[in-house]
Formats: sequence, structure tokens, C-alpha cells
Amino acid sequence: MIELQDIKKGFGDKEILKGVSAVMESGKVNLIIGSSGSGKTVMMKCMVGLIEVDAGIIKYDGQNFSGMDNQQRKEIRQKIGMLFQGSALFDSMTVEQNVMFPLDMFGTGSYRDKKKRVAECLERVNLKDAAKKFPAEISGGMKKRVGIARAIVLNPKYLFCDEPNSGLDPQTSLLIDQLIKELTLEYNITTVINTHDMNTVMESGDHIVYMYQGQKQWEGTNKDIVFSNDQLLNDFIFASEFLREAKEMRQTELYSSGKWKEETKREAPGNGGEQKK
Ligand SMILES: Nc1ncnc2c1ncn2[C@@H]1O[C@H](COP(=O)(O)OP(=O)(O)O)[C@@H](O)[C@H]1O
Ligand SMILES: [Mg+2]
Repeated sequence: MIELQDIKKGFGDKEILKGVSAVMESGKVNLIIGSSGSGKTVMMKCMVGLIEVDAGIIKYDGQNFSGMDNQQRKEIRQKIGMLFQGSALFDSMTVEQNVMFPLDMFGTGSYRDKKKRVAECLERVNLKDAAKKFPAEISGGMKKRVGIARAIVLNPKYLFCDEPNSGLDPQTSLLIDQLIKELTLEYNITTVINTHDMNTVMESGDHIVYMYQGQKQWEGTNKDIVFSNDQLLNDFIFASEFLREAKEMRQTELYSSGKWKEETKREAPGNGGEQKK
């Protein structure tokens, strides 16, 4: 579990994160959603320590990451896998070499062990046959899968993905979402995804944090979301007539299946209660 307690971050005199508290739950896909510029990437960078927070505390499974020295942080960092926006593969390396890279940097064990681990990961993301190809020779969806294989090669406990579906068609996006979700459950990873893809929200949103102008506006599951009265959240998620209709259908479906009743308590005061004009 990753806990954020009253995180603040500004650049110059511009306040970007205005005191965010949230929890990223273990073994789940946690989504950070919100419009462009709401602070999702900054928040993720704070979580992994690429950006220092100005105030507040970030804890990894109870350990205060914010208060750690570099050596202690290194131990946490080695348990973190990251899938960067645009995959960020090395163009001059083959698929296999790209996935090998973290093992060469941080891994222990023999060359044979490493090769075996790379083969396992490529197999897992269904890319065994592309091992010897270069990034320029494969599709966008395949590149993402290479990025995912590289992110999991060190068996991370925490996985961060910044906009994993950017630039992908809807069908490929769905496959990437499914893959991330499967891996999260299979290896009990605490996964954090930044996204503004509504399909992801509806398919993988076990735990969702909605950011609005540097603040957490709402938090809940994708079941809660269809019953939420938070106006900003509704405007963001159900932006079109088509989506508003889909929302009503989902409500009916959840009501009649009885699935929602047990999980009704989320919309507590202060969780989307104080709406900005
Ligand atoms: N290194 C930086 N220096 C100054 N401003 C930044 C920096 N990084 C992000 N910002 C600003 O912070 C705000 C939030 O950005 P970001 O977290 O990237 O939004 P999102 O990922 O939700 O689209 C934006 O206004 C952006 O311009
Ligand atoms: Mg971003």
C-alpha cells in the first residue's frame, strides 16, 4: 500500500498539488484520473521520488519514503517498475536487450539466469517472437508490451504507468489494460495508472482517485462512480450524451444485480462534498 498524506508541490509561485491525501491499495489497479494539467504526472513523479514534495508524507507499506536517505530510497526504488508515456524504449537495442536493461543495471545472478528471466517476461506479454526485433520494426501496442515486460522484469512490488494507452487504438488499449490488470493480480502488485481513458476507468477501476486542479476531488470504485453526485466528476466522466445514457444503463444493471448496495458508503462528506464553482 502507498499512502499520500497532505502532499504539496509547487513550481515557482505556482501551486500544483494543493494538499493531496490518498491511498494506493495493494494488489489493485489504482487509477488517477482527471483532465490534462490536473497534476496526475506530477503526483506520480512525487510518488516515485523523481520530484521532491514541498510538504506532506509518502509511505510505502508503512515506511516513510519522504524521510528516507538515498540509500534507503534505493531499496524501495528497486521494487518499483515504471511504464513511461510513449514507452521510452532504446531505439538502438533489440526488444530483448531493452527488457534486459534493468537486469544489467540492478539485477544479480548469471547471464543465463537473466536471459531466462527476459524470455519469461517476453513470453508473458506474448512477444516471444519479437525478441530480436528493434523498436522501429514493431507496432505501438507491441512497444507498450515491451515497456511492460521491462517494467516487470525485476519483479516489482509497485508498478507505475503514466497514460499507458496514449496513442493506441481502443482495441489495443483494452488489451494493454487487461494485461496490466492480470499482472497486478498475478503478482499482487500495487499498481498506479494515470489515465484519462474512460474505457480503463470502467473496466479496471477498482480504486479511482479523481484529481481536479491539484486536489483530490473524489475517490471510489467504478461502481461508485455511476452513482456519484459529484458534479465535476460527472462532467468529466460522462461528458457526452452517449456516456450519460451508458451511465444510466450501468446504474440499472448494478441495482438489479444487487452489486452496488454493499458498497454504498463511499460518498462520505468531504469526498467530493465540497464542490468548487
Ligand atoms: N517541472 C515543471 N515545472 C513547472 N511546471 C510544471 C512542471 N511539471 C508540471 N508542471 C505543471 O504542473 C501542472 C500539472 O501538470 P501534470 O502533472 O503534467 O498534469 P497531468 O499529468 O494531469 O496532465 C501543469 O500546469 C504543468 O504545466
Ligand atoms: Mg500527465
